[in-house]
Amino acid sequence: MADKKTFYITTPIYYPSDKLHIGHAYTTVAADAMARFKRLTGYDVMFLTGTDEHGQKIERLAREKGVTPKEYVDNIVASIKDLWKLMDISYDDFIRTTEERHEKVVQKIFKKLYDQGDIYKGEYQGWYCTPCESFWTERQLVDGKCPDCGRKVELVKEEAYFFKLSKYQQQLIEYIEAHDEFIQPPSRKNEMLNNFLRPGLEDLCVSRTSFKWGIPVPFDDKHVIYVWIDALSNYLTALGYMTENDERYKKYWPADVHLVGKEIVRFHTIIWPIMLLALGEPLPKQVFGHGWLVLEGGKMSKSKGNVVDPVVLVERYGVDAIRYFLLREVPFGADGVFSNEALINRINSDLVNDLGNLVSRTIAMIDRYFDGLVPQPGEFQDVDVDLRQLALSTPSAVEQLMNRFEYSNALAEIWKLIGRANKYIDETTPWILAKDSDKRERLGTVLYNLAECLRMISVLISPFMTRTPHKIREQLGIKDESLTTWESLSQFGKLPPGTRVQRGEVIFPRLDIEKELKELEEIQQRMKQASQSEGATRTAQDTVQAGGEDGQQGHRLNSDDKRQADGQISIDDFVKLDIRVARVASAERVEKSNKLLKLILEVGDERRQVVSGIAKYYTPEELVGKKVILLANLKPAKLMGIESEGMILAATDERGNLALLTVDQDIASGSKIS
Ligand code: MSP
Repeated sequence: MADKKTFYITTPIYYPSDKLHIGHAYTTVAADAMARFKRLTGYDVMFLTGTDEHGQKIERLAREKGVTPKEYVDNIVASIKDLWKLMDISYDDFIRTTEERHEKVVQKIFKKLYDQGDIYKGEYQGWYCTPCESFWTERQLVDGKCPDCGRKVELVKEEAYFFKLSKYQQQLIEYIEAHDEFIQPPSRKNEMLNNFLRPGLEDLCVSRTSFKWGIPVPFDDKHVIYVWIDALSNYLTALGYMTENDERYKKYWPADVHLVGKEIVRFHTIIWPIMLLALGEPLPKQVFGHGWLVLEGGKMSKSKGNVVDPVVLVERYGVDAIRYFLLREVPFGADGVFSNEALINRINSDLVNDLGNLVSRTIAMIDRYFDGLVPQPGEFQDVDVDLRQLALSTPSAVEQLMNRFEYSNALAEIWKLIGRANKYIDETTPWILAKDSDKRERLGTVLYNLAECLRMISVLISPFMTRTPHKIREQLGIKDESLTTWESLSQFGKLPPGTRVQRGEVIFPRLDIEKELKELEEIQQRMKQASQSEGATRTAQDTVQAGGEDGQQGHRLNSDDKRQADGQISIDDFVKLDIRVARVASAERVEKSNKLLKLILEVGDERRQVVSGIAKYYTPEELVGKKVILLANLKPAKLMGIESEGMILAATDERGNLALLTVDQDIASGSKIS
């Protein structure tokens, strides 16, 4: 027999947090559904997840708790594994970056890259906050101060190793241009090419000496390997890469897909492929960047107190309802808003009304009219042929959509069949047929077809929902596993007549929307209060945000969170700001930087020099003559050795777009904004 085709799928490895929220569960549930789908359709699947356990933040949190970093992460990793168990995540391996199998190979990778000259020793320059022991990049500072504690930062230099990203830049551009499927969805591909690759890459700092909780550089143990070389390598180390036991590597590499949230697409489509090119390894076939699940008030974050706890939801509504909702509600590439109301409505309409009713009506009628035995079908009428055709064409429609990660549309396709079957009941009116003994054969055909549809539906939903298929099969009396395979869907009529059905509990009880909303609101309020009173004892996760301005800062407080936590300001605070209209008199690129522009601004009679990190968004030419908005009384600072006297204001969105603020009428430069 020919070997099965393989399919290697990964989630990102998670930062250890004692409270993963529903947004985290989203990536993993999606990966799990895909892994199950591929297993069902005949692939030999390797599904990897794990945890990303090093870094300064963990070191500090552990110290605050009086435990070792390893003790600290061990506890949390156990709770993450519990969550995955609760959500029926069928991973084949769970890699921890603190495991020996990972650390040893990361050191080998680092050494190889160093020996071949792709990693070299240099000097890292960054803004350092001494009390927080954290480095920040220019853009991460809030008003020139530490975004974590608001205190003064100083520009410091430390010896560090750098990875020559620039050397492979052209090769990667060509690869991406030649492989449309590599970065999905396509919008993310353009973003990577236009915003990062084409403007030019800077070499990446890949080691640190300012903390110890990391994998030591093998030939220079003053340094630990910093964030991305450690974390990204997990996709290979889990397979036994560079070890004697490398069968899994030989079998599964290159990965078929890395599923990642949109904020880490950049690391997976620039740093990771360049590491692989340097190692001489084939690149993953695809990196799929999905959107975020956000709340109405913005991105979930524990310090905002607006997280949705998957454990609470699973305990109330069951794992299948939550898995279904996550995959059905939002198209996978886009951002989606999570709301309790949408969740309850989906459960009531799709699961209770559509699927639940179809199961209970069908089983109840077989029970009532045929003493619980699946009847023998007779001749088919048009309406039967119609139903059968849809049942037979649904699997390939679902398969095509799943191959494009269109989970929501794939589910919609299955629900069309469920809807069609419900309509079939209304059209064939079995309760009327039952009154007429001449119509017994017709009644048998109708109920047989419904039972057979349910069998097929139980197979179709099985990648998405883990419990319901068994409940349906139990009620249908299916024990024979050959009736639950993907191949069994190619034939309508496999369910043997005479099978004894078993009336069971309602598979999805109807929810009282008012009551549920009230109770969920109360729970979420309580959690919010608890997290606010926890105050400073934030966990690693909410203080962690992947990727700084140059991908070198893995661990930082999200500055949006900080502003929220600080609360409102008074008008007295606002008037301290001297904000002015300024005209760009000239603009030029700052040498050796692909981010900074040096602008000379005309502010009334005055001239100001301002350095701004907008080179990726505006060319110097298009800026000249523009009226921009200047924060004029910001303390001067030096950027790349150039004095900057103020800051021009810009808006950024979650997609990484940036737009400069300007005025909507022509108004003299120097005009004050109030
Ligand atoms: N440790 C890094 C990944 C390293 S991979 C070599 C990391 N970890 S994380 O714990 O912060 O995030 C794990 C995954 O959860 C990411 O894909 C991230 O996008 C996803 N999500 C976190 N919050 C999310 C939402 N609110 N919505 C959807 N996905 C979210 O990043």
